[in-house]
Amino acid sequence: MTTTRTPGFWADFARTHWETSPAHFPALLAPVLFPLDELFDAVTRMPPERMSGDRYWVSTTGRPASRDEFTTVPLDAHAPVVNDGDFAGFFRRATAEFPDRRIGINLHHLEKASPALWFRFRELVQAINTAVGAYPSDNWDIDTFIGTYKVSPLGIHKDNAGVFVTGLSGRRSYYLWPEDHFRPGDAALRTLDLDELKPHLDQAMRFDLEPGDLLYWPSSHWHLICSDGEPSVVLSVSAYFGKALSAVIGNQVRNLLAGCLGEDNDQDSYEIGSDANEPPAALAKAHRLTMQAAQGGQISDALQQYWIRFLSADGMHALPPDTAARLVTDRPIRVDSRYPIHFMRSAAGGLIVSANGVAITVATRHHAALEAMLQRLNTGTETSLAELIHQHARAPVTAEEVTSLVGLLNQCHAFRSAGDG
Ligand SMILES: [Fe+2]
Repeated sequence: MTTTRTPGFWADFARTHWETSPAHFPALLAPVLFPLDELFDAVTRMPPERMSGDRYWVSTTGRPASRDEFTTVPLDAHAPVVNDGDFAGFFRRATAEFPDRRIGINLHHLEKASPALWFRFRELVQAINTAVGAYPSDNWDIDTFIGTYKVSPLGIHKDNAGVFVTGLSGRRSYYLWPEDHFRPGDAALRTLDLDELKPHLDQAMRFDLEPGDLLYWPSSHWHLICSDGEPSVVLSVSAYFGKALSAVIGNQVRNLLAGCLGEDNDQDSYEIGSDANEPPAALAKAHRLTMQAAQGGQISDALQQYWIRFLSADGMHALPPDTAARLVTDRPIRVDSRYPIHFMRSAAGGLIVSANGVAITVATRHHAALEAMLQRLNTGTETSLAELIHQHARAPVTAEEVTSLVGLLNQCHAFRSAGDG
């Protein structure tokens, strides 16, 4: 059977399809990329803060024919909860809450509730990055679509992303069109009426997605998602492009300045001085701090941190640390050598260490000793905190310094067990 691990599989994909043409790989991830019950568990444990793209749509009619015939309802009141038991239980409740209506849920950043899901996708993402020879500039994003809609409430649309979607439950049909098929403002982009869309559907590339299949389409392609109206659940991982360099660098400078000036640095007014051409004191101070940050290496450090976070997550959004995790001294620990800890010396003097998208700056003067320890960890050899202290806590490096760094790495999920997903 063809698998994503077949040598050359992703190299062939990158040559033939990446940002060029859609591809459908039936049963490539069969039975499924991630167990449905574990996804249900993740969805019900998502933290209460929602992303702007997290939505629960409900149709206002039994047969919605336009985007306007879908409304959104609060996720907190209606999204899957533990008491539903599973997705089947959730769909039963949704049918009772919204009888004769079509529903759809889109949730992002599932890594906030499931490191296992994040690592499962990372395997795929790393293989693709390697084959393509590049990272998407605006990160890889994992999301899920859960619903009973016959036609996606998003209608025919295009994203600035190359999308991989895999089925977990139920069936869906994906209609894809190349970029030049529709013009912005085309009436077809507003309707969900399949009769009206028929001439376009007849010209589309259609792919029927079953659980375990993988479907890809490039960022250039318009898409419409349909189903028979039975419940279905899919997972997507999307490579978002087009991050503005000015935003990347601007954010680094903004964060640094906020650190110097305090987050609450809003100015109500600027005083007019004796020389109106002279910038006011507040602006001059902000400028001086920016220059100091450039000359002192802080801006360079921030950029290095940005990049090392990117590398240590293979371009995915950071895996949130588990700040409650505590390391037992004798517990065996091992870094998965596919996902090494990244580190570099900071221009301002410390050591920047990053695992799974989270960077820590360690204030140390013993770079070489700590780097030797990190290199040893990156070989993937099993060790323990006790052993690391024994081998690397030699004067001037203290056991506390080793314990602190290894503890932080543990909170950043740097150590994986054989049974981890
Ligand atoms: Fe889309």
